[in-house]
Amino acid sequence: MLAAFGESASLGLFPTMGYLHAGHAEMIRIARRENHLLAVSIFVNPLQFSPHEDLQNYPRSPEADEQLCRTLGVDLLFMPSVEEMYGKHTVLSSVHVELLTDHLCGASRPGHFDGVCTVVAKLFNIVMPTRAYFSRKDAQQLRIVRQMTRDLSFPVEIVAGPIVREADGLAISSRNAYLTASERALAPLIAQALRAVRDRVAQGERDATLLQREAVVALEAQEGFRVDYFSFVDPDTLQPFALLQPGCRALCAAAIFVGRTRLIDNIDVCAPG
Ligand code: PAJ
Repeated sequence: MLAAFGESASLGLFPTMGYLHAGHAEMIRIARRENHLLAVSIFVNPLQFSPHEDLQNYPRSPEADEQLCRTLGVDLLFMPSVEEMYGKHTVLSSVHVELLTDHLCGASRPGHFDGVCTVVAKLFNIVMPTRAYFSRKDAQQLRIVRQMTRDLSFPVEIVAGPIVREADGLAISSRNAYLTASERALAPLIAQALRAVRDRVAQGERDATLLQREAVVALEAQEGFRVDYFSFVDPDTLQPFALLQPGCRALCAAAIFVGRTRLIDNIDVCAPG
């Protein structure tokens, strides 16, 4: 099929776990524009869930997902079963990226990124895309996938996409469906806190530890909020900054429990030079 577009034909891949929302749809539109053919994969990957996590309850909407992909002009929808992906036998191989995986989300979700990397590597081998699309919403995942792709010489260009938000600023996520009405009303405070620290940094505040402490206090003052992390990290190494040097760029990343639901979001910050 790809050959019909000539030698420079490109195949885009957008890997997902389904329950597609407006964020996924925007990524599909971007990938659709940039490639001759576009594949979307939908696979709720058991390897990236730990035993106490929500694998069984992970929301699924295969018919609606298929319809959306059709509407958006997706050429190939890959929805394998667990058995198709991993076979009937125990999986003994795993892709592990060092250093980038053990903090931020990796600290509270041990093994999560091994599961992500293993399934993404398998998808690259199965679909053989020219480009693969990952959003900045999952900034740590994007950074790790880039590293894996380079380290293992996958001939795939990793393309970063935007974070799509609700009108009130809440980053769209499949997990937003778990929020109660009152939790949903408070959830935009996460994005507000991130914007507030970005503005404070732009105005000259360089003490990342102070900003972090203030944000944690403000967020945890809200009913049902518990901060897993709120950190300023180097966008390349993902190591935390205590102080932002003049001209330094940082990623401010947060994971917050709102009730029982863990939401993540992030923002780029830049200290004046
Ligand atoms: P999933 O959570 O379904 O996300 C699939 C892709 O959609 C990821 O690149 C994610 O960053 C992006 N996405 C999620 N919310 C978004 C938003 N609000 N705006 C734009 N894009 C958004 O991430 C995974 O699945 C899995 O870990 C996967 C990579 C598929 C491996 O199993």
